Amino acid sequence: MFAVRSRPQECVDERLRAAFVGTESSTHPVIRVGLLGCGNISHLIAAQTGGFEIAALYDQAPERACELAERCGGRACDSFEAFAAADVDLVVEAASVGAVRTHGEAVLRAGKDLVVMSVGALADPAFLSRLRSAAVMSRRRVYIPSGAVMGLDNLKIGRIGGIDRLVLRTTKSPASLGLRVTERTLVFRGRADECVKAFPKNINVSAAIALAAGREVEVELWADPAVDRNIHEIRAEGPFGDAYIRIRNVPSPDNPATSYLAALSILVLLRDLGEPIVVGT
Ligand SMILES: NC(=O)c1ccc[n+]([C@@H]2O[C@H](COP(=O)([O-])OP(=O)(O)OC[C@H]3O[C@@H](n4cnc5c(N)ncnc54)[C@H](O)[C@@H]3O)[C@@H](O)[C@H]2O)c1
Repeated sequence: MFAVRSRPQECVDERLRAAFVGTESSTHPVIRVGLLGCGNISHLIAAQTGGFEIAALYDQAPERACELAERCGGRACDSFEAFAAADVDLVVEAASVGAVRTHGEAVLRAGKDLVVMSVGALADPAFLSRLRSAAVMSRRRVYIPSGAVMGLDNLKIGRIGGIDRLVLRTTKSPASLGLRVTERTLVFRGRADECVKAFPKNINVSAAIALAAGREVEVELWADPAVDRNIHEIRAEGPFGDAYIRIRNVPSPDNPATSYLAALSILVLLRDLGEPIVVGT
């Protein structure tokens, strides 16, 4: 303890980081990843590989898969069938709610784990149940990264200890919601599954929170011309106490609807898959 205190903080941080990352990480098998959707998030993933390798890519716009494959290696597949047959351990879906609905079960049945970014697709209980069955039958897993929210992992305590009240207020610029309003405007108030239907590209967060906590979320969605960041405020109350989380996410330069944090959270998830010590609930 004394030795730790006597060192400069950056030195302590470096030693902690080294202890967790370890020196043996290069001996872990490299996870072979398939990218379903080659847009903004996949470009951010492809720029940061480490502990995993991108082996196959597919996009409904074939030129996007080819362009990204040229940057990061891996095979650009010209059909979903070829992509599903590729030799990968895990598929990262970074495409759309429609892509999860159309291809999610097939990915699992092809023997791959699935990371779902377009979590809004899972707000439909019937589809969620089918995806769960496909995962069980195929002995594969579906991973949902924390995405654009900090604190998502600990909301899982709601499934054991209960959460009495759970509220999400999201504020975005009108442009990122595809709206033209000149003053702060409430554009939606209601349940997460209804919000996902109205704004499928923008409100994955509400679906992720509902899944994590195992209960309904009261959602408010605001368009505000004065904000240049995507703001998520989460309030939770229950037997554990109460929490208020506020995140001001930097939008990705190429897609203002997507937060940079969301791409970072997938990278952490991919790295953790190969790590002997995993932090977080
Ligand atoms: N969970 C979260 O917190 C979170 C955060 C940000 C983004 N997202 C979601 O992640 C997804 C990807 O985001 P992005 O910023 O990379 O989007 P993007 O629009 O930049 O890229 C999406 C790519 O997927 C392709 N695509 C769409 N539907 C497809 C289909 N059915 N089959 C094959 N390819 C398809 C598109 O052609 C495009 O190239 C979006 O659905 C977004 O809403 C989730």
